Amino acid sequence: MKLLVVTASTREERIGHLIADWAIQRAAAHGKFQAELADLKAINLPMLDEPEHPRFGKYRHAHTKAWSATVAAADAFLFVVPEYNYAMPPALLNAVDYLFHEWAYKPAAFVSYGGVSAGTRSVQSAKPVLTSMKIMPIPEAVSIPFVRNFLKDGRFAGEETQAKAAAAMLDELHKWASALAPLRAPHG
Ligand SMILES: Cc1cc2nc3c(=O)[nH]c(=O)nc-3n(C[C@H](O)[C@H](O)[C@H](O)COP(=O)(O)O)c2cc1C
Repeated sequence: MKLLVVTASTREERIGHLIADWAIQRAAAHGKFQAELADLKAINLPMLDEPEHPRFGKYRHAHTKAWSATVAAADAFLFVVPEYNYAMPPALLNAVDYLFHEWAYKPAAFVSYGGVSAGTRSVQSAKPVLTSMKIMPIPEAVSIPFVRNFLKDGRFAGEETQAKAAAAMLDELHKWASALAPLRAPHG
């Protein structure tokens, strides 16, 4: 099973890549997924510039074809999301809008972070968008409040409770990815 860990923040001086590094480590420790990182800052998609609706899959641009191949190869998603103005980062919405069938019948979980709300409003804003693409968002999550308190020596040092939450989340994500596998098969 392939897990795509999507880093949704793209700002200069962001901290999202530190949280994503931790998420990749948790996936490796969990052991049931082959985890791959998709950093939206590095991928650097322009604002949606394809002429056709993505459901036709007739992509004109190389950046879309590359993003399509990355997402199509995944069996499940782990979105690492900050909260911007009570919502998901626009880079994530843009990246989702680029594609259509590549997302379908795959479960998604979140590692969210922020202030007192721990990024949970960002997650809630993403869910209706994801379900419209037939992504199944699961309730198990890692929600990190006051995230800067957990930064030490230039890295995110998660606590034991967060590591346990990550393991429980990945267990559930793997169950959903397995259950939805027949729908992802070519005949599904
Ligand atoms: C434009 C903007 C809006 C923000 N809005 C929120 C918010 O609604 N809730 C919150 O908890 N933190 C908010 N923050 C603070 C972020 O949680 C904090 O800056 C975090 O480091 C952002 O993640 P990043 O560094 O990976 O981009 C906001 C930050 C920015 C830059």
